[in-house]
Amino acid sequence: MTEPAPSDAAAAKPASPAAPPTSAAPSAPAVAPPVVVFDRVTKTFDNGFTAIKDVSFVVDDMPGKMEFVSILGPSGCGKSTVLRLIAGLTPHHPASSGIVLIGGRNVVGPGADRGMVFQDYSSFDNRTVEDNISFGLECRGVSADERRTRAREWIGKVGLNVDRDAAKYPHQLSGGMRQRVAIARSLILGPRIILMDEPFGALDPATRLRMQDMLVSLSREAQATVFFVTHSIEEAVYLGDRVYVFSAHPGTILKEMRVPGPTFPAKEMQRKPEFMEIVYEIRDLVESLESSNRAGD
Ligand SMILES: Nc1ncnc2c1ncn2[C@@H]1O[C@H](COP(=O)(O)OP(=O)(O)OP(=O)(O)O)[C@@H](O)[C@H]1O
Ligand SMILES: [Mg+2]
Repeated sequence: MTEPAPSDAAAAKPASPAAPPTSAAPSAPAVAPPVVVFDRVTKTFDNGFTAIKDVSFVVDDMPGKMEFVSILGPSGCGKSTVLRLIAGLTPHHPASSGIVLIGGRNVVGPGADRGMVFQDYSSFDNRTVEDNISFGLECRGVSADERRTRAREWIGKVGLNVDRDAAKYPHQLSGGMRQRVAIARSLILGPRIILMDEPFGALDPATRLRMQDMLVSLSREAQATVFFVTHSIEEAVYLGDRVYVFSAHPGTILKEMRVPGPTFPAKEMQRKPEFMEIVYEIRDLVESLESSNRAGD
């Protein structure tokens, strides 16, 4: 799968903060536009199929704080469609109606301000770990020396071992290791928005918890806004500051919940009664959705 080309960065770069206040209001602080706005967004594909309908949400800019938005919903409800609209990837982009704004501007296509990590391991088979991670820097014309230094730094940050893993090819890696490479490839470019489409869906439960811990520490450092699609309610609640629950086709946001951020390691926090309580609440909601779909409501 291809990644958004970094070349369109300028076109989709987040807008600078609003113009300075006029003399009439000298002390009013400049307010940055929201990171992402969806205003009654509908996507109908060429074949007439409507994947999402009237989806609206706003994710505000929170300087100095990263926000983690989890997206849950039944298969086919349009979760990937939402991510790809943010990423500016066709055929999901452009929306059929409604407005998608990134940093206050219309999305015109992919850009380096948005990084995407897919479920299927999206590395280049013919490049080593190091060369996969430094690929985006190469596209930006960064010198070989600097690419090497930064890629090796990122190999360590995502929990791989420089001496052991840097020269390996993707087929020599486990699924978890490949996702670590995919995450490093994306984060090395410092995107403002990180789009993750079921990145841990194919991993065993223990690896998944370790990956969640790694993601928490990385995204705190990255100060980016993360949109994270998952089928795991535990994962959505653990990682998320807020959780959007989508209805089945056509996808609409059924519920938005604020949830406490990850304050303990994944394994520990996901055993706590107060955590389980939130998970059960969402599970009941999702199950009632599924049964009302079965009933044809
Ligand atoms: N190019 C396309 N043309 C027509 N329909 C499409 C196209 N791409 C996706 N769809 C349909 O749009 C709906 C939403 O797809 P999407 O991939 O966003 O779902 P999803 O929520 O990510 O599902 P999953 O959890 O299985 O990944 C699905 O019914 C899908 O079949
Ligand atoms: Mg999907």
